[in-house]
Amino acid sequence: MRCVVRSWRMLFKLGLTVIVLVAVYMYYAIDQPESSNTEEESNPHLPQESKDVQTHERAENKPEIDKASDWAGHIHIAVVVCGDRAEETLVMFKSTVLFTVTPLMFHIFTEPHLRKHFQEQLAFWPEKYRQKIDYQLYNITFPEQEGVKAEDWRKLFKPCACQRLFIPDMLRDIDSVLYVDTDILFLSPLEQIWSLFSRFNSTQLAAVSIEHEDKAIGWYNRFARHPFYGEVGVNSGVMLMNLTRLRASTWLQSVQNYYKEYRLKITWGDQDLINIYFHYHPDQLYVFSCELNYRPDHCMYMSVCKPAEKLGAVILHGCRRVWFEDKQPAFKAVYKTFKEHYLGGSLRYELLESLKRNLQSAPQSSCGKVPNLFTRSIENYLDSREQEKT
Ligand SMILES: *[C@@H]1O[C@H](CO)[C@@H](O)[C@H](O)[C@H]1NC(C)=O
Ligand SMILES: *[C@@H]1O[C@H](CO)[C@@H](O)[C@H](O)[C@H]1NC(C)=O
Ligand SMILES: *[C@@H]1O[C@H](CO)[C@@H](O)[C@H](O)[C@H]1NC(C)=O
Repeated sequence: MRCVVRSWRMLFKLGLTVIVLVAVYMYYAIDQPESSNTEEESNPHLPQESKDVQTHERAENKPEIDKASDWAGHIHIAVVVCGDRAEETLVMFKSTVLFTVTPLMFHIFTEPHLRKHFQEQLAFWPEKYRQKIDYQLYNITFPEQEGVKAEDWRKLFKPCACQRLFIPDMLRDIDSVLYVDTDILFLSPLEQIWSLFSRFNSTQLAAVSIEHEDKAIGWYNRFARHPFYGEVGVNSGVMLMNLTRLRASTWLQSVQNYYKEYRLKITWGDQDLINIYFHYHPDQLYVFSCELNYRPDHCMYMSVCKPAEKLGAVILHGCRRVWFEDKQPAFKAVYKTFKEHYLGGSLRYELLESLKRNLQSAPQSSCGKVPNLFTRSIENYLDSREQEKT
């Protein structure tokens, strides 16, 4: 969602910061899924008897204390959904269950009128996939604080964008989440990014990727009127958050203070506040590589995310509405494929094949020309799974 708009008068520059080591390490360090069953079979690790249609939403008055223990061992996804973003969010959810073995917990912060939509759509999933997930819906709420009204937070950038700053305080029983914008698609198992938590040193409490690979076209370094992280700032569309550590830090107090101090200088809402925070606390941030938050910016002029050329885009970020508009036909083709994919259909013969077909028939674009950019990750996943079987 948050993707800084770049000036067209960019300079092509060859000196690129390539984080190859991280990428190569990650490639070999992927935790292979423990289950080798194909998507056509049922998963022996999951209970088979509960065939009754049940809602997976937890009763809201359930004691908080149960949650943490129930949901330990899950991968927790947090997402904030307002306006017309529900559809792409459901496609994002679908992409999470295709490749991931670990049970998933979705924390959905949304407007009251969208609650029913999520309940109905998720209940409609085939049983095998519904069993993999649990979810909880939350209202959008902001703290009332001296000098900053809840209404001010709502008005900053987009109606509910800043909600995520307060997730540590709202999910008090949850240790860690992967926060994603609604316009994200996972092209590989979530275990891969989740495993980065274990690489945090003792001071790191969150992980993101940087905003640009090329300083010459960076937005923050050229235009920002507030402090930002590092040389080019960070993109917060995919963010690992260790909530336990965030709660123990000055995070909540600090972002509210930065808001008061910089409110008139902020362009991109919550992402700017996150940049300001990590400007002052650089030791608390783990920076991951660009293929884990792959955006049109990485290929629209030239290919600047080198790890993705080798590994493929691992997590795709369709910022600036490229899922729906015609600016980036290759990104649009990927979204269309995931949207139309039927849960339970073969990943190799249906998902991957239609992806290739849709990419081929999309109008030419600079991003579409990077070989295997959008398919490599899925192919690698399918190949590794097949190797396991033999
Ligand atoms: C969420 O907000 C709606 C409308 O404001 C309200 O009716 C509902 O009770 C709230 N739910 C929770 C769990 O706070
Ligand atoms: C988050 O930090 C806490 C406190 O340091 C630690 O106990 C926990 O294991 C961390 N969570 C993850 C997923 O690494
Ligand atoms: C953790 O890593 C960050 C980023 O590399 C660094 O700034 C910080 O000093 C490290 N913390 C410790 C305790 O080593």
